[in-house]
Amino acid sequence: EKAGYKHFMAKEIAEQPVVLGDAIKHYAGAGGIALPAGIDFAGLDRLTMVACGTAYYACLTAKYWFERLAGLNCEVDVASEFRYREPPLPANSVALFVSQSGETADTLAALRYAKEKVKKIVGVVNVPTSTIARESDVALPILAGIEVGVASTKAFTCQLTVLLLLALKAGLDRGQLTKAEVQGHLDDLAALPGLVNQALAREGEIAAIAAAVAEAQDVLFLGRGAMFPLALEGALKLKEISYIHAEGYASGELKHGPIALIDRAVPVVVLAPRDALFDKTVSNMQEVMARHGMVILLTDAAGAREAGEGTWKVLVLPKVADLLAPILYAIPAQLLAYHAAVAKGTDVDQPRNLAKSVTVE
Ligand code: M6R
Repeated sequence: EKAGYKHFMAKEIAEQPVVLGDAIKHYAGAGGIALPAGIDFAGLDRLTMVACGTAYYACLTAKYWFERLAGLNCEVDVASEFRYREPPLPANSVALFVSQSGETADTLAALRYAKEKVKKIVGVVNVPTSTIARESDVALPILAGIEVGVASTKAFTCQLTVLLLLALKAGLDRGQLTKAEVQGHLDDLAALPGLVNQALAREGEIAAIAAAVAEAQDVLFLGRGAMFPLALEGALKLKEISYIHAEGYASGELKHGPIALIDRAVPVVVLAPRDALFDKTVSNMQEVMARHGMVILLTDAAGAREAGEGTWKVLVLPKVADLLAPILYAIPAQLLAYHAAVAKGTDVDQPRNLAKSVTVE
C-alpha cells in the first residue's frame, strides 16, 4: 500500500502534484470557478472559519486571501476555543469548518454551535461520508485521497487549494475581482502541480539540511503575511514527527521575545519568497544572523541572489505567483520534518501520543 515508499507520509507528500491537479480540475473548469450552487459571499457581513491543528493553519492562511481578494471580514479560531467561547455570530454570515477526517470532536461541536445561527454552514473535508460533511449545508471534498500518515500533508495543500478557490469566488461575488483577474489566478493555479513537482525534486538537498536540523534541540520558523501560518504549520510538522521542539512566529514578532532564544545552536527556517514583504523578512533574518542563528532560507532564485549571503543554508524554490507561495512552500516544510524524523529514527507514520483523528475532546 505504500507503493514502494518507506512511509505513508513520504507517499502522501509525493502524491501532491496529482491530488492538487485533481482538486484544481474539479473546482475550476474552462468556464471559471465551478463550486456547488448555494455558495455565495455577496453582501455577507462575516466569514468565520474554525478547525484544529493543520486544518486551522489552512484557515489562518485563507484569512489573508479572503481579506485581500474579497474584502471579507474574516474570523478564524481553533475549534476547542470557539466552542466554549460561544462567540456571537452575525445572522448574515457563513461559517466554514475545515477537517481532513470530518470527525474531529471539537470541530463538529463548533459546527453544531453555529447551526441555526448563521446563513450557511460549509464543510471542507477530505472524507466525503464524514459527520462534518453530512451536517454541513454544503460539503466540499478536497479530493486528497485517503491520508494515512498522522502528520497531515496532502490534505493541507488540498485544503489550501479549495480555500483559495473559495476566496476567488468571494472576490467575484463581492465585486472585488473581475472575471479576467480570476482567470489570471486560475491560470497560475493550473501551473501549480508542475511547480510542486519541481519542489519535490529538491528532496535530496532538503534531506541533507534535515540531517543537520535533526541535531537541534529547538527550531524556529519565521514568515510574514500568508507565510506566517505556514511557519506555524512547519513547526507543528517538525515537532509532531521528530519530537524536536519547534515554534513558528510572524517575522515581525521576533524582537518582541523569541530573539532571546537565538544562539549558534538554533536553526531558524525563514520562509521568504521574493514578494512585497521580502525586504521586511530579510531584515528580521539579518537580526537572527547577527546573533549567530543558523538561518535556513527558503526562497526563489531572485531572493537567494539578494539575500542568500551569510545564511547557513539556502534552498531555492521555483518562482511562484505570490498567492500560491504558501502552498508551494509547504512542500519543503513537510520534507524537512519528514527527513529530520527519518534521521532521528522516530515512528514517522504513527508518532507517539497522537491519533490520526481526534474524536474525543
Ligand atoms: O481531521 P482534522 O483535519 O479535523 O484533524 C485536525 C488535526 O487533528 C490535525 O490536523 C492534526 O493537527 C495533524 N496531526 C497535523 O499534522
